[in-house]
Amino acid sequence: MGPPRHRRPVLGLCAVRPHHRRRHGLRRQHPGRVRRRPGLTRVAVIRHATVADVEGILAVGRTTWRATYTPLVGSERVESFLARWWTAAGLLSGIEQGRVWVAGDAGQVVAMAAHSTRDRVLTLDRLYVLPSHHGRGIGTALLDGVAAAAGATVDVIVLSYLDGNDAAGEFYTARGFVETHRERDTPGWPDDVWMARSLLPRVPDGTHSAG
Ligand SMILES: CC(C)(COP(=O)(O)OP(=O)(O)OC[C@H]1O[C@@H](n2cnc3c(N)ncnc32)[C@H](O)[C@@H]1OP(=O)(O)O)[C@@H](O)C(=O)NCCC(=O)NCCS
Repeated sequence: MGPPRHRRPVLGLCAVRPHHRRRHGLRRQHPGRVRRRPGLTRVAVIRHATVADVEGILAVGRTTWRATYTPLVGSERVESFLARWWTAAGLLSGIEQGRVWVAGDAGQVVAMAAHSTRDRVLTLDRLYVLPSHHGRGIGTALLDGVAAAAGATVDVIVLSYLDGNDAAGEFYTARGFVETHRERDTPGWPDDVWMARSLLPRVPDGTHSAG
């Protein structure tokens, strides 16, 4: 099954600062609009992945996994997980269902995200940005893009990161996620730290409406 015909090929665009990151230096993406700012030289395109992106996505996964997780679990476990979890076959069904996203910069896939949805809960299964492109707003743009595309069809976004991946924890906390619980998914690995962010509108007492 191919992607639905009504789907727009480009979800949004994210301005990329080439040399340094600046806190809040990048706009949230606005689908279909490009707003250039002084000093910005390139624009990363946030869009649904296609079959043609598979090799680029695998390269992002392998490079980013090795850089992120080797210090936490060692290279042997990383390579074993890459061989099982980052395969073309594993990506294809997600791509066909429109659950995989990429950021492209100058024609190269530099980041990817994947999600699944069930019972109005969107699970962000993967969010990986090439280390060479960290801190440029691309991860935020992908996260916002996935949330925006889900729109009113989900109430909450949940995700997990590996305990010890403090940069990821800080990234999600700064974007409104709150830790809900921890669990051990794989024996011998650190805990998965689960976080959630409600998409329901806030009511005056600071809680979220029930829908
Ligand atoms: C975590 C990650 C997805 C964030 O994407 P990003 O494009 O680097 O992040 P953005 O540029 O949108 O936002 C910058 C924020 O990311 C955080 N961050 C995490 N790692 C960073 C890094 N290596 N360099 C700069 N910022 C980093 C900072 O907290 C920063 O917060 P601030 O803007 O409040 O100062 C990305 O760094 C990444 O892929 N990391 C390795 C893989 C990983 O841990 N993925 C998440 C698995 S659950």
